[in-house]
Amino acid sequence: MDQLSIREILFDSSEYKEALKLRYQVLRAPLGLEFSAEEMAKEPVCLHFAALQAGQVVGCLLLMPLDSSRVKMRQVAVSPTLQRAGVGKALVISAETAAQQRGFREIVLHARDTAVGFYDRLGYERVGELFLENTIPHLLMRKSLP
Ligand SMILES: CC(C)(COP(=O)(O)OP(=O)(O)OC[C@H]1O[C@@H](n2cnc3c(N)ncnc32)[C@H](O)[C@@H]1OP(=O)(O)O)[C@@H](O)C(=O)NCCC(=O)NCCS
Repeated sequence: MDQLSIREILFDSSEYKEALKLRYQVLRAPLGLEFSAEEMAKEPVCLHFAALQAGQVVGCLLLMPLDSSRVKMRQVAVSPTLQRAGVGKALVISAETAAQQRGFREIVLHARDTAVGFYDRLGYERVGELFLENTIPHLLMRKSLP
C-alpha cells in the first residue's frame, strides 16, 4: 500500500470536494439518499479530515462542534477497495488528537449498527438502544478525550 497521510482539510477546498464525493459514494448512494440542505449548512463550521494516498482522498470524516466541550463525529467513510486496511482507524485517531488539542473533552457519534464493532475497537462506549436514522439502525456512542 502507498503511504497514507492524514490531514485536516479546509471547507470548500479541492480535497473537501473530493471527500464529499467519497462520502456520497460510500454513505448516501447505497441508501438512495442525498445530503440535506440542513446538514450542508453546518459544513463550514465543521472540522474536516482526509486520508490521502497517492494524491487521492481515500477516506474522510468530519467533527461538528456541539458546544465548547463536545464534538460530533460524522460521515466517516473509507474507499471500498481500501476498507479494513487501517485507514479508518488512522483517521479517527488523528481527529481525536485534533479535537483534544482544540480543547474538546468528548466525542459523540451515531454509529451505523454495521460499524459499531469498529468504534468498539477504538474505545467508544455504547449508549442506549438502537434507533433509526437515514432509514438504518444506529447507536449513540461516546468517548472522553484525555
Ligand atoms: C466503517 C469504516 C469507516 C471503517 O474503516 P476501515 O478503514 O475499514 O477500518 P480499519 O481497517 O481502520 O479497522 C480498524 C479495526 O476495526 C475493525 N473494523 C473495521 N470495520 C469494522 C466493522 N464494520 N465492524 C467491526 N469491526 C470493524 C477492523 O477489523 C480493525 O480491527 P483490528 O484493529 O482489531 O485489526 C469503513 O469500513 C467504511 O467506510 N465503511 C462503510 C461506511 C460506514 O459504515 N461508515 C461508518 C458510518 S457510522
